[in-house]
Amino acid sequence: MKALILSGGSGSRLRPLTYTNAKQLLPLANKPILYHIIEKIVKSGIRDIGIVVGDSREEVERTVGHGGRWNVRISYIHQSMPLGLAHAVKTASEFIGDEDFLMVLGDNVFGTDFKPLIKNFYDNKANTSISLYKAADPSQFGVAVVENNRIVKLVEKPKTFISDLIITGIYVFDKSIFSAIDIIKPSRRNELEITDAIEKQIEMGGKVTFNILKGWWKDTGKLHDMLEANRLVLDGMKAEYKAVQAENSVCTGKLWIGKNVVIKNSNIAGPVIIADDAIITNSYIGPYSSIGKAVKINDCEIDNCIILESAFLDGIDRRISGSLIGKNVVIKSSEKRPYSNIFLLGDNSEIYFKNNY
Ligand code: TTP
Repeated sequence: MKALILSGGSGSRLRPLTYTNAKQLLPLANKPILYHIIEKIVKSGIRDIGIVVGDSREEVERTVGHGGRWNVRISYIHQSMPLGLAHAVKTASEFIGDEDFLMVLGDNVFGTDFKPLIKNFYDNKANTSISLYKAADPSQFGVAVVENNRIVKLVEKPKTFISDLIITGIYVFDKSIFSAIDIIKPSRRNELEITDAIEKQIEMGGKVTFNILKGWWKDTGKLHDMLEANRLVLDGMKAEYKAVQAENSVCTGKLWIGKNVVIKNSNIAGPVIIADDAIITNSYIGPYSSIGKAVKINDCEIDNCIILESAFLDGIDRRISGSLIGKNVVIKSSEKRPYSNIFLLGDNSEIYFKNNY
Protein backbone atom coordinates (compact mmCIF):
# COMPACT_ATOMS: atom_id res chain seq x y z
CA MET A 1 0.00 0.00 0.00
CA LYS A 2 1.17 3.53 -0.83
CA ALA A 3 0.17 6.84 0.72
CA LEU A 4 -0.73 10.09 -1.01
CA ILE A 5 -0.79 13.46 0.74
CA LEU A 6 -2.53 16.35 -1.02
CA SER A 7 -0.47 19.46 -0.44
CA GLY A 8 -1.41 21.62 -3.43
CA GLY A 9 -4.39 23.99 -3.24
CA SER A 10 -4.37 27.73 -2.74
CA GLY A 11 -4.89 28.11 1.04
CA SER A 12 -6.96 31.25 0.45
CA ARG A 13 -8.54 31.12 3.92
CA LEU A 14 -5.18 31.53 5.62
CA ARG A 15 -3.96 34.52 3.63
CA PRO A 16 -1.70 36.47 3.95
CA LEU A 17 0.38 33.70 5.58
CA THR A 18 -0.15 31.46 2.56
CA TYR A 19 1.25 34.08 0.15
CA THR A 20 4.70 33.24 1.49
CA ASN A 21 4.28 29.86 3.24
CA ALA A 22 2.59 26.65 2.19
CA LYS A 23 -0.35 26.14 4.56
CA GLN A 24 0.77 22.53 5.09
CA LEU A 25 4.12 23.76 6.43
CA LEU A 26 2.65 26.03 9.08
CA PRO A 27 3.75 24.72 12.47
CA LEU A 28 1.71 23.08 15.21
CA ALA A 29 3.79 22.88 18.41
CA ASN A 30 6.68 24.19 16.27
CA LYS A 31 6.52 21.27 13.78
CA PRO A 32 5.12 21.56 10.22
CA ILE A 33 1.65 20.07 9.76
CA LEU A 34 3.06 17.75 7.06
CA TYR A 35 5.51 16.25 9.58
CA HIS A 36 2.60 15.37 11.90
CA ILE A 37 0.83 13.63 9.00
CA ILE A 38 3.92 11.78 7.77
CA GLU A 39 4.64 10.49 11.29
CA LYS A 40 1.12 9.01 11.45
CA ILE A 41 1.51 7.42 8.00
CA VAL A 42 4.85 5.88 8.99
CA LYS A 43 3.26 4.57 12.21
CA SER A 44 0.64 2.83 10.06
CA GLY A 45 3.41 0.86 8.35
CA ILE A 46 3.44 2.59 4.91
CA ARG A 47 6.89 3.38 3.49
CA ASP A 48 6.18 4.74 0.02
CA ILE A 49 4.64 8.22 0.16
CA GLY A 50 3.73 10.63 -2.63
CA ILE A 51 3.01 14.31 -1.99
CA VAL A 52 0.92 16.27 -4.50
CA VAL A 53 2.29 19.81 -4.64
CA GLY A 54 1.34 23.00 -6.45
CA ASP A 55 2.99 26.42 -6.46
CA SER A 56 4.76 25.79 -3.16
CA ARG A 57 6.52 22.68 -4.48
CA GLU A 58 10.06 23.95 -3.85
CA GLU A 59 9.37 25.01 -0.26
CA VAL A 60 7.63 21.72 0.57
CA GLU A 61 10.39 19.63 -1.02
CA ARG A 62 13.12 21.63 0.75
CA THR A 63 11.42 21.32 4.15
CA VAL A 64 10.20 17.72 3.98
CA GLY A 65 12.94 16.14 1.84
CA HIS A 66 12.84 12.67 0.36
CA GLY A 67 12.00 10.66 3.46
CA GLY A 68 15.45 10.00 5.02
CA ARG A 69 14.32 11.59 8.28
CA TRP A 70 11.67 8.86 8.71
CA ASN A 71 13.44 6.10 6.79
CA VAL A 72 10.75 6.07 4.05
CA ARG A 73 10.61 7.11 0.39
CA ILE A 74 8.90 10.41 -0.45
CA SER A 75 8.15 11.39 -4.07
CA TYR A 76 6.66 14.65 -5.34
CA ILE A 77 3.91 14.94 -7.92
CA HIS A 78 3.23 18.33 -9.45
CA GLN A 79 -0.37 19.48 -9.93
CA SER A 80 -0.23 22.44 -12.31
CA MET A 81 -3.52 23.99 -11.07
CA PRO A 82 -5.63 23.34 -7.95
CA LEU A 83 -8.52 21.83 -9.89
CA GLY A 84 -9.95 19.75 -7.05
CA LEU A 85 -9.14 16.79 -4.81
CA ALA A 86 -10.13 14.24 -7.47
CA HIS A 87 -7.95 16.08 -9.99
CA ALA A 88 -5.04 15.89 -7.54
CA VAL A 89 -5.57 12.13 -7.14
CA LYS A 90 -5.74 11.68 -10.92
CA THR A 91 -2.47 13.62 -11.27
CA ALA A 92 -0.85 10.98 -9.06
CA SER A 93 -2.08 7.97 -11.07
CA GLU A 94 1.38 7.10 -12.39
CA PHE A 95 2.88 7.19 -8.87
CA ILE A 96 0.08 4.97 -7.50
CA GLY A 97 0.08 2.45 -10.38
CA ASP A 98 -2.14 -0.54 -9.51
CA GLU A 99 -1.66 -0.32 -5.74
CA ASP A 100 -4.21 0.43 -3.03
CA PHE A 101 -3.49 3.73 -1.35
CA LEU A 102 -4.20 5.83 1.70
CA MET A 103 -5.07 9.43 0.80
CA VAL A 104 -4.75 12.21 3.39
CA LEU A 105 -5.44 15.93 2.98
CA GLY A 106 -2.26 17.83 3.78
CA ASP A 107 -3.96 20.27 6.13
CA ASN A 108 -5.63 17.69 8.39
CA VAL A 109 -4.27 16.54 11.75
CA PHE A 110 -5.47 13.78 14.07
CA GLY A 111 -4.87 12.14 17.38
CA THR A 112 -4.79 8.57 16.06
CA ASP A 113 -3.01 6.69 13.28
CA PHE A 114 -4.64 5.13 10.21
CA LYS A 115 -4.45 1.43 11.08
CA PRO A 116 -8.20 1.02 11.90
CA LEU A 117 -9.22 2.54 8.54
CA ILE A 118 -6.77 0.37 6.59
CA LYS A 119 -8.03 -2.71 8.46
CA ASN A 120 -11.63 -1.75 7.65
CA PHE A 121 -10.73 -1.48 3.93
CA TYR A 122 -9.15 -4.95 3.78
CA ASP A 123 -11.58 -6.72 6.15
CA ASN A 124 -14.50 -5.56 3.99
CA LYS A 125 -12.72 -6.03 0.65
CA ALA A 126 -13.88 -2.49 -0.07
CA ASN A 127 -13.14 -0.32 -3.08
CA THR A 128 -13.07 2.75 -0.85
CA SER A 129 -13.05 3.24 2.91
CA ILE A 130 -13.62 6.68 4.37
CA SER A 131 -12.76 7.94 7.79
CA LEU A 132 -15.86 9.55 9.32
CA TYR A 133 -16.13 11.69 12.42
CA LYS A 134 -19.24 11.99 14.60
CA ALA A 135 -19.91 15.70 14.97
CA ALA A 136 -22.28 17.63 17.20
CA ASP A 137 -22.84 20.20 14.43
CA PRO A 138 -22.34 18.62 11.00
CA SER A 139 -24.00 21.47 9.03
CA GLN A 140 -20.74 23.00 7.77
CA PHE A 141 -19.27 19.75 6.42
CA GLY A 142 -19.80 17.04 3.87
CA VAL A 143 -21.61 14.13 5.51
CA ALA A 144 -22.06 10.43 4.75
CA VAL A 145 -25.34 8.55 4.92
CA VAL A 146 -24.75 4.96 6.01
CA GLU A 147 -26.88 1.82 5.75
CA ASN A 148 -25.88 -1.74 6.71
CA ASN A 149 -22.28 -0.79 7.33
CA ARG A 150 -21.89 0.79 3.89
CA ILE A 151 -21.96 4.36 2.68
CA VAL A 152 -24.91 4.93 0.37
CA LYS A 153 -24.71 8.67 -0.16
CA LEU A 154 -22.41 11.68 0.35
CA VAL A 155 -23.95 15.13 0.78
CA GLU A 156 -22.05 18.42 0.88
CA LYS A 157 -23.19 20.81 3.69
CA PRO A 158 -26.77 19.49 3.96
CA LYS A 159 -29.38 22.19 4.65
CA THR A 160 -31.49 19.84 6.76
CA PHE A 161 -30.13 17.13 9.05
CA ILE A 162 -29.37 13.94 7.20
CA SER A 163 -26.42 12.46 9.13
CA ASP A 164 -24.00 13.45 11.89
CA LEU A 165 -21.10 11.55 10.31
CA ILE A 166 -18.82 14.07 8.65
CA ILE A 167 -16.28 13.16 6.01
CA THR A 168 -12.73 13.77 7.23
CA GLY A 169 -9.76 14.12 4.92
CA ILE A 170 -8.64 10.48 5.18
CA TYR A 171 -9.54 7.78 2.66
CA VAL A 172 -8.30 4.40 1.43
CA PHE A 173 -8.84 3.65 -2.27
CA ASP A 174 -8.23 0.83 -4.69
CA LYS A 175 -7.47 1.62 -8.31
CA SER A 176 -11.18 1.72 -9.28
CA ILE A 177 -11.23 5.33 -8.03
CA PHE A 178 -9.33 6.33 -11.20
CA SER A 179 -12.05 5.04 -13.56
CA ALA A 180 -14.66 6.88 -11.44
CA ILE A 181 -12.65 10.13 -11.65
CA ASP A 182 -12.43 9.72 -15.44
CA ILE A 183 -16.24 9.81 -15.69
CA ILE A 184 -17.11 12.76 -13.41
CA LYS A 185 -17.50 16.35 -14.57
CA PRO A 186 -16.24 19.50 -12.79
CA SER A 187 -18.58 20.81 -10.09
CA ARG A 188 -20.20 24.26 -9.87
CA ARG A 189 -16.98 25.62 -8.36
CA ASN A 190 -15.17 24.11 -11.35
CA GLU A 191 -13.32 21.45 -9.38
CA LEU A 192 -13.21 17.67 -9.79
CA GLU A 193 -14.67 16.63 -6.43
CA ILE A 194 -13.54 13.46 -4.68
CA THR A 195 -17.04 13.07 -3.23
CA ASP A 196 -18.48 13.00 -6.79
CA ALA A 197 -15.97 10.31 -7.73
CA ILE A 198 -16.92 8.20 -4.69
CA GLU A 199 -20.64 8.67 -5.45
CA LYS A 200 -19.87 7.47 -8.98
CA GLN A 201 -18.15 4.39 -7.50
CA ILE A 202 -21.29 3.66 -5.46
CA GLU A 203 -23.45 4.12 -8.58
CA MET A 204 -21.26 1.66 -10.47
CA GLY A 205 -21.77 -0.96 -7.71
CA GLY A 206 -18.53 -0.29 -5.84
CA LYS A 207 -18.28 -1.11 -2.13
CA VAL A 208 -17.70 1.99 0.00
CA THR A 209 -17.24 1.38 3.72
CA PHE A 210 -16.22 3.55 6.65
CA ASN A 211 -14.46 3.70 9.95
CA ILE A 212 -15.46 6.12 12.69
CA LEU A 213 -12.40 8.02 13.78
CA LYS A 214 -11.69 7.80 17.49
CA GLY A 215 -9.95 10.64 19.23
CA TRP A 216 -9.61 14.09 17.75
CA TRP A 217 -9.43 15.35 14.17
CA LYS A 218 -8.96 18.88 12.87
CA ASP A 219 -9.02 20.48 9.46
CA THR A 220 -6.61 23.41 9.86
CA GLY A 221 -7.89 25.50 6.95
CA LYS A 222 -8.80 28.54 9.11
CA LEU A 223 -7.15 30.51 11.95
CA HIS A 224 -9.46 29.23 14.68
CA ASP A 225 -8.86 25.62 13.61
CA MET A 226 -5.07 26.10 13.51
CA LEU A 227 -5.12 27.35 17.11
CA GLU A 228 -7.36 24.50 18.20
CA ALA A 229 -5.07 21.97 16.49
CA ASN A 230 -2.06 23.58 18.20
CA ARG A 231 -3.83 23.14 21.56
CA LEU A 232 -4.66 19.50 20.83
CA VAL A 233 -1.11 18.68 19.72
CA LEU A 234 0.40 20.36 22.80
CA ASP A 235 -2.06 18.51 25.05
CA GLY A 236 -1.00 15.20 23.49
CA MET A 237 2.73 15.78 23.91
CA LYS A 238 4.66 14.17 26.73
CA ALA A 239 6.09 16.61 29.23
CA GLU A 240 9.85 16.77 29.58
CA TYR A 241 10.70 17.93 33.05
CA LYS A 242 14.03 19.48 32.17
CA ALA A 243 15.25 22.32 34.33
CA VAL A 244 14.52 25.60 32.58
CA GLN A 245 17.33 28.17 32.70
CA ALA A 246 15.40 31.27 33.61
CA GLU A 247 16.56 34.30 35.50
CA ASN A 248 14.22 35.84 38.01
CA SER A 249 11.25 34.03 36.40
CA VAL A 250 8.43 31.65 37.28
CA CYS A 251 8.03 28.65 34.93
CA THR A 252 5.15 26.24 35.56
CA GLY A 253 3.17 23.53 33.71
CA LYS A 254 4.28 21.49 30.69
CA LEU A 255 7.16 23.26 28.95
CA TRP A 256 9.38 22.41 26.01
CA ILE A 257 12.25 24.86 25.81
CA GLY A 258 14.81 24.75 22.97
CA LYS A 259 18.55 25.48 22.95
CA ASN A 260 19.98 28.92 23.74
CA VAL A 261 16.61 30.25 24.86
CA VAL A 262 16.86 33.25 27.17
CA ILE A 263 14.07 33.80 29.72
CA LYS A 264 14.39 36.75 32.10
CA ASN A 265 11.97 38.49 34.49
CA SER A 266 9.09 36.49 33.01
CA ASN A 267 6.24 34.15 33.85
CA ILE A 268 5.83 31.11 31.60
CA ALA A 269 2.70 29.01 32.24
CA GLY A 270 2.56 25.83 30.13
CA PRO A 271 1.67 24.06 28.03
CA VAL A 272 4.14 26.23 26.11
CA ILE A 273 6.77 25.35 23.51
CA ILE A 274 9.64 27.72 22.79
CA ALA A 275 12.08 27.00 19.94
CA ASP A 276 15.85 27.54 19.89
CA ASP A 277 17.35 31.01 20.22
CA ALA A 278 14.15 32.73 21.39
CA ILE A 279 14.49 35.60 23.88
CA ILE A 280 11.68 36.26 26.36
CA THR A 281 12.06 39.22 28.72
CA ASN A 282 9.67 41.01 31.11
CA SER A 283 6.75 39.02 29.73
CA TYR A 284 3.97 36.53 30.46
CA ILE A 285 3.67 33.56 28.07
CA GLY A 286 0.46 31.71 28.88
CA PRO A 287 -1.00 28.29 27.99
CA TYR A 288 -1.09 26.94 24.44
CA SER A 289 1.55 29.22 23.02
CA SER A 290 3.98 27.94 20.39
CA ILE A 291 6.90 30.32 20.04
CA GLY A 292 9.12 29.81 16.98
CA LYS A 293 12.87 29.95 16.50
CA ALA A 294 14.64 33.22 17.34
CA VAL A 295 11.39 34.99 18.29
CA LYS A 296 11.93 37.97 20.61
CA ILE A 297 9.23 38.98 23.08
CA ASN A 298 9.71 41.85 25.50
CA ASP A 299 7.20 43.47 27.80
CA CYS A 300 4.16 41.58 26.47
CA GLU A 301 1.45 39.18 27.64
CA ILE A 302 0.64 36.31 25.31
CA ASP A 303 -1.46 33.17 25.37
CA ASN A 304 -3.05 30.73 22.92
CA CYS A 305 -0.87 31.92 20.03
CA ILE A 306 1.31 30.54 17.27
CA ILE A 307 4.26 32.85 16.64
CA LEU A 308 6.54 32.03 13.73
CA GLU A 309 10.29 32.34 13.38
CA SER A 310 12.07 35.64 14.12
CA ALA A 311 8.95 37.66 14.96
CA PHE A 312 9.57 40.57 17.35
CA LEU A 313 6.91 41.72 19.83
CA ASP A 314 7.74 44.59 22.14
CA GLY A 315 5.81 46.67 24.68
CA ILE A 316 2.22 45.80 23.74
CA ASP A 317 -0.21 47.00 26.43
CA ARG A 318 -2.99 44.47 25.99
CA ARG A 319 -2.67 40.71 26.02
CA ILE A 320 -2.20 39.08 22.62
CA SER A 321 -4.45 36.04 22.46
CA GLY A 322 -5.76 33.67 19.78
CA SER A 323 -3.32 34.98 17.16
CA LEU A 324 -1.17 33.54 14.41
CA ILE A 325 1.83 35.78 13.74
CA GLY A 326 4.02 35.21 10.68
CA LYS A 327 7.80 35.10 10.23
CA ASN A 328 9.75 38.33 10.85
CA VAL A 329 6.61 40.24 11.86
CA VAL A 330 7.34 43.26 14.07
CA ILE A 331 4.74 44.59 16.54
CA LYS A 332 6.18 47.35 18.67
CA SER A 333 4.88 50.22 20.72
CA SER A 334 6.30 53.60 19.86
CA GLU A 335 6.64 56.70 22.02
CA LYS A 336 7.40 58.96 19.09
CA ARG A 337 5.00 61.75 18.18
CA PRO A 338 2.51 61.83 16.57
CA TYR A 339 0.84 59.21 18.81
CA SER A 340 -0.68 57.17 16.03
CA ASN A 341 -0.95 53.55 14.95
CA ILE A 342 1.45 52.66 12.13
CA PHE A 343 0.75 49.62 9.95
CA LEU A 344 2.77 48.00 7.18
CA LEU A 345 0.43 45.14 6.27
CA GLY A 346 0.33 42.75 3.35
CA ASP A 347 -2.86 42.04 1.38
CA ASN A 348 -5.54 40.24 3.40
CA SER A 349 -3.91 40.95 6.78
CA GLU A 350 -6.35 41.17 9.66
CA ILE A 351 -5.96 43.26 12.83
CA TYR A 352 -8.44 43.37 15.69
CA PHE A 353 -7.67 45.80 18.49
CA LYS A 354 -9.41 47.24 21.51
CA ASN A 355 -9.62 51.01 21.61
CA ASN A 356 -9.06 52.77 24.92
CA TYR A 357 -12.16 53.30 26.97
P1 TTP B 1 -8.81 22.74 0.66
O1 TTP B 1 -8.61 23.20 2.04
O2 TTP B 1 -10.14 22.24 0.28
O3 TTP B 1 -8.42 23.88 -0.38
P2 TTP B 1 -7.23 24.93 -0.32
O4 TTP B 1 -6.00 24.33 0.26
O5 TTP B 1 -7.10 25.47 -1.71
O6 TTP B 1 -7.68 26.05 0.74
P3 TTP B 1 -8.74 27.25 0.66
O7 TTP B 1 -10.09 26.59 0.61
O8 TTP B 1 -8.50 28.01 1.95
O9 TTP B 1 -8.41 28.07 -0.56
O10 TTP B 1 -7.75 21.58 0.32
C1 TTP B 1 -7.57 20.48 1.19
C2 TTP B 1 -6.18 19.92 0.96
O11 TTP B 1 -6.05 19.42 -0.37
C3 TTP B 1 -5.07 20.95 1.13
O12 TTP B 1 -3.95 20.35 1.74
C4 TTP B 1 -4.73 21.35 -0.29
C5 TTP B 1 -5.01 20.08 -1.10
N1 TTP B 1 -5.47 20.32 -2.47
C6 TTP B 1 -4.70 19.85 -3.54
O13 TTP B 1 -3.63 19.26 -3.32
N2 TTP B 1 -5.14 20.08 -4.81
C7 TTP B 1 -6.30 20.73 -5.08
O14 TTP B 1 -6.65 20.89 -6.25
C8 TTP B 1 -7.10 21.22 -3.95
C9 TTP B 1 -8.39 21.95 -4.20
C10 TTP B 1 -6.64 20.98 -2.69
